[in-house]
Amino acid sequence: MALLELQNLSCGYGEMLAVSNLSFTLAEGEILALLGPNGAGKTSTILTIMGHVQVKSGALLIDGRDATRLPALKRTEFGLALVPEGRRLFSDLTVSENLTVGGYSRSRNDEKRNLTRVFDLFPRLFERRTQLAASLSGGEQQMLAIGRALMSMPRLLLVDELSLGLMPKMVDLCLDALKRLNKEGLAILLVEQNTSRALDVADQVCVLASGRSVFTGPAEAARKDVDLLHSYTGAAA
Ligand SMILES: Nc1ncnc2c1ncn2[C@@H]1O[C@H](COP(=O)(O)OP(=O)(O)OP(=O)(O)O)[C@@H](O)[C@H]1O
Ligand SMILES: [Mg+2]
Repeated sequence: MALLELQNLSCGYGEMLAVSNLSFTLAEGEILALLGPNGAGKTSTILTIMGHVQVKSGALLIDGRDATRLPALKRTEFGLALVPEGRRLFSDLTVSENLTVGGYSRSRNDEKRNLTRVFDLFPRLFERRTQLAASLSGGEQQMLAIGRALMSMPRLLLVDELSLGLMPKMVDLCLDALKRLNKEGLAILLVEQNTSRALDVADQVCVLASGRSVFTGPAEAARKDVDLLHSYTGAAA
């Protein structure tokens, strides 16, 4: 059964439609890359899935259950967690404190276990656990944003613009971590400007342009026609 299913979903702000009639399914344990140029509606889609942007029509199913009108807090309970665009860390809190905030919905025992798991995934965060988030490098901040989301023990991680502003080495580190988490069973919805890198890790691909899907299908099909995909996403081939 699909972990997440969008059925002709339209969403937007006030009168304005940001995304129209979007449909895709994400199965348990899969990675779906959501691609497209600036303003295509990627963040709006992610925020709608998290319950922060208004659904205008269509439906959103989690585990086959209608979650279209489910409050945002409940979606966390259903196993969704967000790594937001721009990371949005608590800059005046330490690395450990940021992680603790991410695990607020879990018991103390879970918190300890999850902290160990995050520090095992990102040893750099352990080394910097007493440092303020604001003092971390961009790559370390992205690791912390991922770690904070993992603290709620999600089944589906939504990552918005993983590689934005990061050095290639840091992008590798973060992508490797996501691949490892995916091997352990975590489903991931990855929004990425870097089409090639996203295609390397994705099982499914959905490309948006001006709020509409222009390609939805297996990543294998997309990899066979990368030029076409680049023409959709606006990236250089
Ligand atoms: N809070 C908002 N209020 C009104 N319109 C918004 C809001 N946020 C986004 N939009 C509009 O919705 C459309 C889609 O924006 P969105 O941020 O989802 O695109 P995106 O694909 O994530 O772009 P980017 O690659 O630049 O992050 C744009 O036209 C944008 O101006
Ligand atoms: Mg965006």
